[in-house]
Amino acid sequence: MAEVVIVADKDEAGRLVAAEIVRQIVANPDYVLGLATGSTPLPVYEALVPAVADVDLSRVQGFALDEYVGLDPAHPESYRSVITREVVEPLGLNPDRIHTPNGALETIAHAGEDYEAAIEAAGGVDLQILGIGSTGHIGFNEPGSSFASRTRVKTLTERTRVDNARFFDGDISQVPMHCITQGLGTIQRARHLVLLAFGESKAEAVAGAVEGPVSSECPGSAIQLHPHVTVVVDEAAASRLKHADYYRYALANKPAWQGL
Ligand code: F6R
Repeated sequence: MAEVVIVADKDEAGRLVAAEIVRQIVANPDYVLGLATGSTPLPVYEALVPAVADVDLSRVQGFALDEYVGLDPAHPESYRSVITREVVEPLGLNPDRIHTPNGALETIAHAGEDYEAAIEAAGGVDLQILGIGSTGHIGFNEPGSSFASRTRVKTLTERTRVDNARFFDGDISQVPMHCITQGLGTIQRARHLVLLAFGESKAEAVAGAVEGPVSSECPGSAIQLHPHVTVVVDEAAASRLKHADYYRYALANKPAWQGL
C-alpha cells in the first residue's frame, strides 16, 4: 500500500520531496532520478534549487518518462526542452547525463529498446517522480496499457491532448498525436515511486490509483503493486480518498526511523 501524505499546498509537497531527493543524493552521488514533465513536478524542481546549493550533482543522472513523437527537440514544448529549462539549467546538471526518450521519426522503431538499455546501463532509477493525468495515466500510459509494458510508442487520448493544449497556445491541433513513454513495467522497476497530484481535477484519478481496483483501466493503479510508493497530494486531490483519515492517522503516528 502506498504511503499517502496529504499536504497543505504544492510548496509543502515540493519541499518534502526535494528534501528526500537531496538526502538520497548525498548518500549516493551516483543517484539516478526519474523525471516527470507537466505542471505537477514543478514545485519539486523549484524546491530543489536552494536545497542542492552545496550538493555535488556531477554524477547524478536523470531519465524523463516520456517525449512527443515527431516534435522537433528544439520546440519549446518538447520534453527535452522542458527538462532542460525546468531541471537541467536551474540545478546545473550535466546535460549529457540527462536522458529523454528519442522521439525522432527516423529512429523511432528502436528508440524504446535503446531507452530501456540506457536505464539499465545506469543501474535503474532510484526515485521516480510521477504526475497523474485526468485519464489516470502515469507517464503517457493511457487506459488499457499493459502492466508489463516497456518504453514504446503510444497514441495519446483526445482527453490528454485537450489537457495538454494549454502548453501549445490552447490549440489541440498542435499537440502531437503520438508519444514515446516508459511503460508501466519500466516504471515499476524504479526503486521508489513518488506520485504527486494537486487540485480537484486529479481527485478521481488519485482515488483510482490509490484505492481503486488494480486495473489497466486506471494505469496509475499499477503503483499498488510496487513495494515502495509515496503519494503526495493536497486536500483537493485527496478529496475522493475513502481512507484519508487513516492516512493522516498513519502519518501522525509514523515511527521516526521510517523515511519517506
Ligand atoms: C509527464 C507525464 C504525465 C503527466 C500527467 C499530468 O511526463 O508523464 O503523466 O505527469 O499528464 O500532467 P500535469 O502535471 O501537467 O497535470
